[in-house]
Amino acid sequence: MPTDFDTIVNLAKKRGFVFQSSEIYGGLRSAYDYGPLGVEMLRNVKEQWWHAMVRTRGDVVGLDSAVIQSPAVWEASGHLTSFSDPLVECRNCHNRFREDKLEDLHQCPSCGKRDTFTEARQFQLMFKTNLGPIESEENVVFLRPETAQGIFTNFDNVRRTARMKLPFGIAQIGKAFRNEITPGQFVFRTREFDQMEMEFFCRPEEAEEWFHYWLDERVRWYVGLGIDAQHLRLRAHDEDELSHYAAATEDVEYLFPWGWDELEGIANRTDFDLRRHAEHSGKDLRYYDQEANERFFPYVIEPSAGANRATFALLIDAYDEETVRDETRVVLRLDKRLAPIKVAVLPLSKKPELMEVSERVAASLRPLWATEHDVTQSIGRRYRRQDEIGTPLCVTVDFDSLGDQAVTVRDRDTMEQDRVGLDALQGYLTEKLA
Ligand code: GAP
Repeated sequence: MPTDFDTIVNLAKKRGFVFQSSEIYGGLRSAYDYGPLGVEMLRNVKEQWWHAMVRTRGDVVGLDSAVIQSPAVWEASGHLTSFSDPLVECRNCHNRFREDKLEDLHQCPSCGKRDTFTEARQFQLMFKTNLGPIESEENVVFLRPETAQGIFTNFDNVRRTARMKLPFGIAQIGKAFRNEITPGQFVFRTREFDQMEMEFFCRPEEAEEWFHYWLDERVRWYVGLGIDAQHLRLRAHDEDELSHYAAATEDVEYLFPWGWDELEGIANRTDFDLRRHAEHSGKDLRYYDQEANERFFPYVIEPSAGANRATFALLIDAYDEETVRDETRVVLRLDKRLAPIKVAVLPLSKKPELMEVSERVAASLRPLWATEHDVTQSIGRRYRRQDEIGTPLCVTVDFDSLGDQAVTVRDRDTMEQDRVGLDALQGYLTEKLA
């Protein structure tokens, strides 16, 4: 665990994982851009989710639905009426807060004045825009606040074309947008973010069992990618916390530097969404069970994760500091599958004869793994930099390489070094990165 929140945020900014969005214009509050390392890691996190939730399972298929959908979708889903947060404003400093997140309902956390809050009003969280060139009430559309609804509206298309039988799931990764009242904690809560959602359709009487199955699976996924199990817990929602569609929800919480907070929500959405879309669209979205000769609305278990939050938590948990020869070594002990760069090729010096070999080695590895050719600064500093960005293996080309046609491969975690012949290098790295 990092000593504090600032350490990890500084590392993320300094090493090019995350930049403030629109930085050259002073930045846009709580909007972030992912830099060269951040984009690789975020993609790897999504790839691992897809691998676990779709590719390696026979009962889940994928989807990529539109961000902008018919407003009727949000009418039916209940988002137009119920997707809001209670907003209060301090009459003294005019800062705005989510009432349900205030620690003290009487004291403003910004100016410290007491009993200055206005009455709470419900603030709609969906972003509104217009479809086409004319701004009018009829042309109003919304940016999706969750990817899930695109799955529900395509339930019958997917079931029919992919010939799916219950129980089965439909998974989707994509952007979601919410006009959050109080975004913050770096990339933890932003107004634009990536969701990784899966709607698992099952018989109503099996919903409870699948709910527990998915709770276990999802915790296992985080632990499998290197998060310390002690830093994860499940927390059931109280009755008054449940979303308008959920009969039960448990959050996978992570011990962030500011305390336990939500990483992912796993909800039993019952048949709420399919039933509502059937009512509003007039289409029969019931499932027909041939064997039992019955039609019914399936129940839905939904594991819904944020890719940005997962990436942030994985980064925090991988952060480590140790003392090596009286110096502090910062090392990101990222799972190899998540590390943005898998192999760094480092020539011992910039002498042309070494550069020629190291460039050739790097070029041969690039089609196989994310590879960096790092030539500036002393070899010690380059090792430290690669440790700090979590590169599992460094390949060093030295003067002996010209004679023995071999290189030194250094392991990030143990710092042990092996001498490996150039002809055996790909095989060696394949084994190490498997
Ligand atoms: N379809 C259900 C749903 O959207 P949610 O708990 O509102 O449920 C699911 O969101 C996940 O999406 C959260 O656990 C979190 O990881 C991520 N998420 C939600 N709002 C977010 C925000 N403003 N910024 C970043 N991630 C967010």
